[in-house]
Amino acid sequence: ATVERFRLAMPVPPVLAPVSTAGGVDRYAMTMRTATAEILPGLRTEVLTYNGQFPGPTVRARSGRPVVIRQHNALTMPTSVHLHGASVAPSSDGDPMDTVAAGTSRTYRYPNRQPHASLWYHDHAHHMESEHVYRGLSGAYLLRDRTEARLPLPAGAYDVPIAIRDAAFTEDGQFSYAMGDRNRTTMLANGKAYPYFRVAARKYRFRLLNASNMRMLRLRLGDGGPIVQIGTDGGLLARPLTATDVFLSAGERADVVIDFSRYPVGTELVLENTAPPGPADLVGQVLRFDVDRTADDPSEIPAVLRTLPPLPEPTAERSVSMNMKPPQAFMDDKVYDPARVDAHVRYGASEVWTVTNASPEFPHNFHMHLVQFRVLERNGKDPNPSETGLKDTVNLMPGETVKLQATFDAYRGSYVYHCHMLDHSAMGMMATMKIA
Ligand code: C2O
Ligand code: CU
Repeated sequence: ATVERFRLAMPVPPVLAPVSTAGGVDRYAMTMRTATAEILPGLRTEVLTYNGQFPGPTVRARSGRPVVIRQHNALTMPTSVHLHGASVAPSSDGDPMDTVAAGTSRTYRYPNRQPHASLWYHDHAHHMESEHVYRGLSGAYLLRDRTEARLPLPAGAYDVPIAIRDAAFTEDGQFSYAMGDRNRTTMLANGKAYPYFRVAARKYRFRLLNASNMRMLRLRLGDGGPIVQIGTDGGLLARPLTATDVFLSAGERADVVIDFSRYPVGTELVLENTAPPGPADLVGQVLRFDVDRTADDPSEIPAVLRTLPPLPEPTAERSVSMNMKPPQAFMDDKVYDPARVDAHVRYGASEVWTVTNASPEFPHNFHMHLVQFRVLERNGKDPNPSETGLKDTVNLMPGETVKLQATFDAYRGSYVYHCHMLDHSAMGMMATMKIA
């Protein structure tokens, strides 16, 4: 059945209220449980949720102020909550093997000793992360700091997280999930299929997240109008970047500003996706912005957004290759084995990793826990301008090689790195680094 377009309003996921703010710590409680959501107009879909919300509630945190989240697992299977892009101790990282058993609770501690960034949390229970995230276990975690707060960027109601993903449905509107499914061709934004979003004729900041398991997105406005990218996974770029499209592989984020003041009230502007796979009439549209009013706009996009931290002299180098022969997927020709340490990293080291996608036919991407890295090179040349900021996930088309630099001076312990096409990590394209 074809899904009717632009029938549902795109919600802004509610900001989670703390249970307590005593002692300079924001304490939250979440329950992982099943619920139903209207994703397709007029139908209820069974979903997995944090606190009954699809997608999960947004956590707004401040750099220098710790967040503690008590997660209760009211589902029937184990889960593991990973805060993607965060610098946290191993015990709070949401490691694939460090799961929360059904019916139990677990307290995760996020020190927030890192600069502002648009992070997100999602399930990471080994072999199940892919299906769990697909069925709904993800949400935004927006960390701000003084550098960011000082800038006159659009804020408050004009700063909106948008999680974009695909899904496949049965005739009666339930999610259908199969590992590696290429037929996920219904596009969702903040949990609704092809929604509309009413905007004022002014600037908006959108925290775009590609929350798909596998799909790459290349987003553009229907009129080809400019999108100003101001940030990436690990926060603001040094300078704004004006483009006509924004590319995001699964798990990546782009912080963008769109100025709707150039459109007359009454304009309907579709946010399109031009990346394959799938028929353009299904995957080619994501949501529609409806410009329905004028508004004052004191916001501005400064010409300089931040100074990126200087890159230290690298102290070590290593290479990693990604490959797959379905149904198995490999990091350095090995399937993930939690008992094995694949990379021994000296605490305090700043390492250059050369990551190659050795698959002739499959795109992959590369995500490291714990660190925000810098992309030094893509295929021996300068990286794309949109990946010159701090990154935690980087895309690799078949045959591509990326050089990145990461500094391991925050925590000791074991963390995973993996392909963030979650069907691939679930198939084993994941490995362990031990920082000691
Ligand atoms: Cu967003 Cu290990 O993942
Ligand atoms: Cu992959």
